[in-house]
Amino acid sequence: SRSINLAVIPGDGIGQEVVAQGLKVLDSVLPQDVKLETKEYDLGAQRWHRTGETLPDAELDALKSHDAILLGAIGDPSVPSGVLERGLLLKLRFAFDHYINLRPSKLFPNTATPLAGRPDIDFVVVREGTEGPYTGNGGSLRTGTPAEVATEVSVNTAYGVERVVRDAFERAKARPRKKLTLVHKNNVLVYAGHMWKKIFDTVGREYPEVTTDYLHVDAATIFFVTQPERFDVIVTDNLFGDILTDLAAAVTGGIGLAASGNVNPTGEFPSMFEPVHGSAPDIAGQGKADPTATVLSVALLLRHLGYEAEAARVETAVAADLAERTADRPRTTDQIGDALAVRVAS
Ligand code: IPM
Ligand code: MN
Repeated sequence: SRSINLAVIPGDGIGQEVVAQGLKVLDSVLPQDVKLETKEYDLGAQRWHRTGETLPDAELDALKSHDAILLGAIGDPSVPSGVLERGLLLKLRFAFDHYINLRPSKLFPNTATPLAGRPDIDFVVVREGTEGPYTGNGGSLRTGTPAEVATEVSVNTAYGVERVVRDAFERAKARPRKKLTLVHKNNVLVYAGHMWKKIFDTVGREYPEVTTDYLHVDAATIFFVTQPERFDVIVTDNLFGDILTDLAAAVTGGIGLAASGNVNPTGEFPSMFEPVHGSAPDIAGQGKADPTATVLSVALLLRHLGYEAEAARVETAVAADLAERTADRPRTTDQIGDALAVRVAS
């Protein structure tokens, strides 16, 4: 019989609350014959305060044995900026070779967005997840003096760029519109930018059915707001993808709806699914957080593990739930989770 052995990292702030709803929906949508096993990992700000650890080797090793990871949010103002981000979240993405950071954007009905009433928006950002300026390749000279120099080197390998570009072409080929846009900044970042463009063009020759486009990242931000329907699949560098997907979330219904998957397509390591939003310590523990982004991340998780029908059911439930939302009937995190769990029940 089938089974899912899931690692759960609720993490910090609203992470705990939203992950509980994601699990509720997952449990409800899975057919009876699928055995869901979950193991919770105590990682994040509290653990760091208690023990000084972010992600010990033993836990990294244990996480490896799971089919997938569901993560809530990482980060707290009481921890110096970068400690948990680098020591936990990015460490997981790098250690498990999550070279595809998948971030879909859909304009759901009845959502508060500057683009409400616009034609259908339905695109996916394929953000590179293991290279670029995120590698921690940099340094500081004469630190703390007026002559301080800081560098932050963007690392781009032909191997790393080709595999993400190829994945994006495959995704574009599988979608009705079959369009792929490369976003970079090759008029300024000439070394990395030209390599990305060269590899994009070369791989593109193998996909004659895919229409291609190139945009500088600054121009892309304009089109995200003025003409988002021009996008289908976007492939871009780690940092550009980080920024663009926050913008994408803001214009398509808010960060409360934005889902993501840190995917290792080879299956060598478990992929990790998480809402794009952070730990929101200002509203933590108050039942105010919208768990929808986590629930949609669960849909990505289901699809990744081959449960396409269940993934689609979760997405349909979210669309239906959003369509019925009204401002005069606010619901708690738990109530939204309950409503979605009822909708997806098999
Ligand atoms: C995200 C976050 C992370 C990133 C941070 C917390 C390291 O902003 O998942 O988008 O920059 O990738
Ligand atoms: Mn981000």
